Amino acid sequence: MKNILVTGGAGFIGSNFVKMMLDAHPDYRIINVDALTYAGNLENLTDIDDNSNYHFIRADIRDRTKMDEIFASCAIDTVVNFAAESHVDRSIVEPEVFLTTNIIGTQVLLDTTKKYWKVNPDDKYCKEYKPGVKFLQVSTDEVYGALGAKGMFVETMPLLPNSPYSASKASADLIVRAYHETFGIPVNITRCSNNYGPYQFPEKLIPLMINNCLNNKELPVYGDGMQIRDWLHVSDHCSAIDTVLHKGLNGEVYNIGGNNEKANIDIVKLIIKTLGKSENLIKYVKDRPGHDRRYAIDNTKITSELGWEPAYTFEQGILETIEWYLDNQVWIANVVSGEYTVYYERMYL
Ligand SMILES: NC(=O)c1ccc[n+]([C@@H]2O[C@H](COP(=O)([O-])OP(=O)(O)OC[C@H]3O[C@@H](n4cnc5c(N)ncnc54)[C@H](O)[C@@H]3O)[C@@H](O)[C@H]2O)c1
Repeated sequence: MKNILVTGGAGFIGSNFVKMMLDAHPDYRIINVDALTYAGNLENLTDIDDNSNYHFIRADIRDRTKMDEIFASCAIDTVVNFAAESHVDRSIVEPEVFLTTNIIGTQVLLDTTKKYWKVNPDDKYCKEYKPGVKFLQVSTDEVYGALGAKGMFVETMPLLPNSPYSASKASADLIVRAYHETFGIPVNITRCSNNYGPYQFPEKLIPLMINNCLNNKELPVYGDGMQIRDWLHVSDHCSAIDTVLHKGLNGEVYNIGGNNEKANIDIVKLIIKTLGKSENLIKYVKDRPGHDRRYAIDNTKITSELGWEPAYTFEQGILETIEWYLDNQVWIANVVSGEYTVYYERMYL
């Protein structure tokens, strides 16, 4: 039995992860701590409401007292930190909350793990921790900055973030590293490429385009649409995190990617074609400042050292994803209208 604190478990990747873990490890207890910002949606988790190994607590990871209480009452031995402000566009308009949640929130969690997991918390030289504990920081390939036409990100590259979002994630990675080096906390950092799949908030490229297509609305494409990203199905990201949790060597960073480089415009055209719409819906808009041109992940370390492989091809994953959004239009409508917040009030208040 493990007691896993999943932060941000009501978001896109966190909610997929919580469900996958309950399925894959029926003897684990999952404590989902989420502040329920605009991006947190408990409707993503309704199918596990009655699972006795699942508990939801509404809390902010920046709240030290609350984190302390949760560690004490739930005997947490593992942390998977998804909680973050995650949308680059928002970070350009309102950077501060990205810095406080993504950096200070991570530090608060690290301080709490140090207090509860260290064998002798009062000895500043003690680097001995209770057996089996682990702090896993969910990071992003965006911390490496942008690539030219060639090359791939490897774990040893310098961090050169270009947006307030990626700078806040890079800062969190450095704090996690420093707490490992200075205090000995058993940590891993994972840096994943762009995710797609069910339950993604429709402000991100793929669900935004699907939703707009379904409503015959314009499809806004930044610049020339030739920004290249490596795309990974969310369930492959979740299985990679599970692998790192169980097999990752303490202190190591693991890149996670699917070898699926696609230009944004090609994804938009694929969605249009699959939904039988017209490319006339595409509207090229002014590019966003600091827009990275290309990301590509070298996943050799996690595949060769830990034996992880993605299960999805992009072609299969994107079709299933489009079908999921077609089958779950009520979910999209609730998210777009803000109606999903009512669920929390009905269930918890
Ligand atoms: N989406 C991607 O493609 C991608 C790729 C690589 C890494 N990541 C990382 O994975 C993590 C999850 O991404 P996502 O796309 O699921 O994001 P998301 O925006 O869908 O979810 C974030 C969740 O965190 C919660 N949250 C925000 N601030 C909080 C706070 N202060 N305290 C507690 N909870 C808080 C939100 O309510 C939400 O449920 C992030 O750390 C992100 O940087 C995302």
